[in-house]
Amino acid sequence: MATWSAPGKVFLFGEHAVVYGKPGIAMAIKPRVMVTVRETRYHQKPNSPYIAECFRLMDVKGSVYVRSQLPSSSGLGSSAAVTVATLSAINDEFGLEKTRAEIANLAHQVEMSAQNGRASATDTYVSTFGGMVLVRDNEKRRLLPPQNFSIVIGNTLVSHSTSETIGKVAELRKQSPDIANPILDSIAAITMRAMYNLDNQKELGNLMNMNHALLDALGVGHPVLSKLVLAARSAGAHGAKTTGAGSGGCMYAICSKSSRNRVAGAIEGCDARAIITTIDIEGARKEKDE
Ligand code: PMV
Repeated sequence: MATWSAPGKVFLFGEHAVVYGKPGIAMAIKPRVMVTVRETRYHQKPNSPYIAECFRLMDVKGSVYVRSQLPSSSGLGSSAAVTVATLSAINDEFGLEKTRAEIANLAHQVEMSAQNGRASATDTYVSTFGGMVLVRDNEKRRLLPPQNFSIVIGNTLVSHSTSETIGKVAELRKQSPDIANPILDSIAAITMRAMYNLDNQKELGNLMNMNHALLDALGVGHPVLSKLVLAARSAGAHGAKTTGAGSGGCMYAICSKSSRNRVAGAIEGCDARAIITTIDIEGARKEKDE
């Protein structure tokens, strides 16, 4: 029996644009998913297509038990965390000796097949290695995270489908490339500006607000997301934006230590769930078997 855990993530900047080879910045966060894998003679068919694909790719038979502190289908990378933790636990249980980089690559393949071939490597890379990362095409650059970078996440409790929202943006690009492509280019410019301003929370906040508006323009907004974003800004956040696929799911805000609880309270006041959290620098890790 082998138990591994992997962290969730927030997309700080660049979601959707990253699917078209533009840069995206993501950060691993504290809530984790734990997965226990046990070698068995008979394969128990898992309910999750992600877990089923992990067993198929690694060509082994076993049972699996998942515990998650991460809400699913909310944009916090729970499917990537499940995939990374499952692959790591299979790797350990069956002594396959894959490296961390190989696990990250395999996890990306699993997401691609579960999401109709459209998934950037961001979620799976960040969940495997932890920390803060810039992803662009095949390039992954680990960024030096700023000191005391804590964020407030607001979960709309409206579930979304990542592949549907990706399809929406693809459709807009097909129908109106003259509108969609400049929006994606602007998101890319914001992401690069953010990379050089990670220590300047006020500037980051302005860039987040711009990125949020551009995601709305791409058609992946949601009234509850906008409500939470506005509530967080009114409560004193430097900036707030959607994180992940949009059309529901989560937003995040950055704010000073003194306004953190106020911002979380404003989010909860909108009948949403707030999580105050910070960066996870460990990535996938082996846990004690229970
Ligand atoms: O909501 P999530 O965690 O599935 O994030 C999706 C982010 C996208 O850029 C829309 C897709 C991707 O694979 O990067």
